[in-house]
Amino acid sequence: MLKLPTKSNSTSFNSNTAKTSAENMAKGQKSVIVKLENVRKTYTNGAVGLRDVNIELYKGDFKFITGHSGSGKSTLLKLLYGAEQATDGDVIVNGFNLNGLKGNKLAMLRRKIGIVFQDYKLVPRRTVAENVAFVLMAQGYTYKEIQRRVQPALKMVGLMDKADCFPEELSGGEQQRTSIARAIVNTPPLVLADEPTGNLDPDNAWQVIKILKKLNSFGVTVLLTTHDEQLVRAANHPVLHLQNGYIV
Ligand SMILES: Nc1ncnc2c1ncn2[C@@H]1O[C@H](COP(=O)(O)OP(=O)(O)O)[C@@H](O)[C@H]1O
Ligand SMILES: [Mg+2]
Repeated sequence: MLKLPTKSNSTSFNSNTAKTSAENMAKGQKSVIVKLENVRKTYTNGAVGLRDVNIELYKGDFKFITGHSGSGKSTLLKLLYGAEQATDGDVIVNGFNLNGLKGNKLAMLRRKIGIVFQDYKLVPRRTVAENVAFVLMAQGYTYKEIQRRVQPALKMVGLMDKADCFPEELSGGEQQRTSIARAIVNTPPLVLADEPTGNLDPDNAWQVIKILKKLNSFGVTVLLTTHDEQLVRAANHPVLHLQNGYIV
C-alpha cells in the first residue's frame, strides 16, 4: 500500500503555472493553449460530431461547453486529448498539432492534460492514494517523488483522510474528487472534464466546481462540459454552446 509522508515536504500547485500566467498577464500577453481551426469530425459510420468549429482558449481560461446530448461536447474533448482525430482542420494543444500525433509524442502531450470523466474510472481494488499514484508510477516517477505529489493532490480535493479507502467505500462525490486528484497529480496546465458533475447531487456537483475554480485560480486552464444550466449560471464563467456539432 502506498504510504503517504506525515510531514509536508510536498510539491504545490500554484508555483510555475501561476507564475507564468501572472507574468504573461502583467505583460498584457495571453498565450493560446488550445486552438481548433475549421475542425470537422465525422465518425466512420457517417455520424457528425463537430462541424467547422473554431475555438481559441488562453492559458488561465475557465470555460464551460454546454449543449444537448449528441451536440458534440464529448467529441470536442476527445479531439483535445487525442482519443479521436479530426477529419478536417487543425487541433492544437500546448503548441502540438494533434493531426497524426501518435505513440510517444501523443503520450507526452497527454501528460500535460488532466482528464476527468463523468463515471470516475477508478481502479476498484486500489486505494484512493494508489489510484492517484498510478499515473505517476506508469510514468516512472520515483517512490519518493510519488509520495511528495500524492499528498498535496489529495489535500487539494479534501480527501487526505480517505487516502487508504477503496473506491467502494466512498460516496460518488468523493470518488469524483479522487479522480480529480488523479487528473492533477502531475500538475498539468490544462484540465478537461467531461460531464464531471453528471452523476452528482447539487451539493457534490458544486464541490467539484469549487475545486476546479481553485485550480483555475492557480493558473490551470479548465474546460468542462455540462448540461446543468443552473451550475453554469452559479459558476459564472464563459460558455461555449454546441448545437448539432456547431458552436453557436
Ligand atoms: N464513437 C462514435 N462513433 C460514431 N458516432 C459517434 C461516436 N461518438 C459520438 N458519435 C456521434 O457524434 C455526435 C456527437 O456525440 P458526442 O460528442 O458524444 O455528444 P455529447 O457529448 O454532446 O452528447 C452524436 O451524433 C453521436 O452519436
Ligand atoms: Mg458527452
